[in-house]
Amino acid sequence: MSTLIKSLAGLGLGAALSLTAGSALAAGGGCGTFTNADGVVEHLACSEAPIDFTNKGSLQNGAKLFMNYCAGCHSAKYVRHSRIAQDLEIPPELVEKYLMVTTDQIGDHIDAEIDPEIQASWFGAAPPDLSLETRLRGDDWVYTYLLSFYEDPSRPWGANNLVLKNAAMPHVLHNLQEDLSEEEFRSEVGDLVNFMAWMGEPARHDRQVIGFFVILFLLVLLIPVYLLNKEYWKDVK
Ligand code: HEC
Repeated sequence: MSTLIKSLAGLGLGAALSLTAGSALAAGGGCGTFTNADGVVEHLACSEAPIDFTNKGSLQNGAKLFMNYCAGCHSAKYVRHSRIAQDLEIPPELVEKYLMVTTDQIGDHIDAEIDPEIQASWFGAAPPDLSLETRLRGDDWVYTYLLSFYEDPSRPWGANNLVLKNAAMPHVLHNLQEDLSEEEFRSEVGDLVNFMAWMGEPARHDRQVIGFFVILFLLVLLIPVYLLNKEYWKDVK
């Protein structure tokens, strides 16, 4: 009996841990390599993205940035505007007025303004759909990528990227970076990535909270189970 309980508890704990784990897998391995001015290859550490789904202000700002700076080229075809209104607690009228740049139906998904196929011929690579980008690359990768554009006159758009060498994407946040202090810029990009992480898994925060309580429940359950186990076997020599 005690082995049964143990294996059941183990199973539950395993499931709960995987509930809380999130995209930890993607975090390993750093954010790529680059060659510095002396010709030495260096590893680029990832910067940690400030993910916080309870910060609605940050998510709302991220949505605004995404629609203004990214949806021209990138779609997010698993995300509906109505879901943004609901989850991010933005009145639908405001979503319609300020955030629906590519459609006039609030139930529609986020489409790119310009057909990605056409863009492929401009940039040499089609801008990928970004709905699941943070799941694919990890939050920290996306955050570091957006902070790692630098001037490079040899590139067609005058910019290159430390994380994605010879990236076909222009440095679209260039003006924002020029206008803001380093700290403000990082905070804006943080909000943007927070929103992208929400797009990738809107229920992530709930999952983590549930995972936490499942573990707590199992730990508390351990006490009576342990005592019961002792009681059960006490007369067996
Ligand atoms: C002018 C068009 C354009 C705009 C605007 C744009 N992108 Fe891109 N983006 C691209 C292209 C083209 C690529 C493909 C780059 C490559 O593969 O070299 C890309 C690639 C990316 C990638 C890397 C995908 C991967 O996994 O390799 C990320 C992340 C990304 N964009 C995020 C953003 C975000 C966030 C914004 C808004 C701040 C944005 N992009 C705005 C054109 C654009």
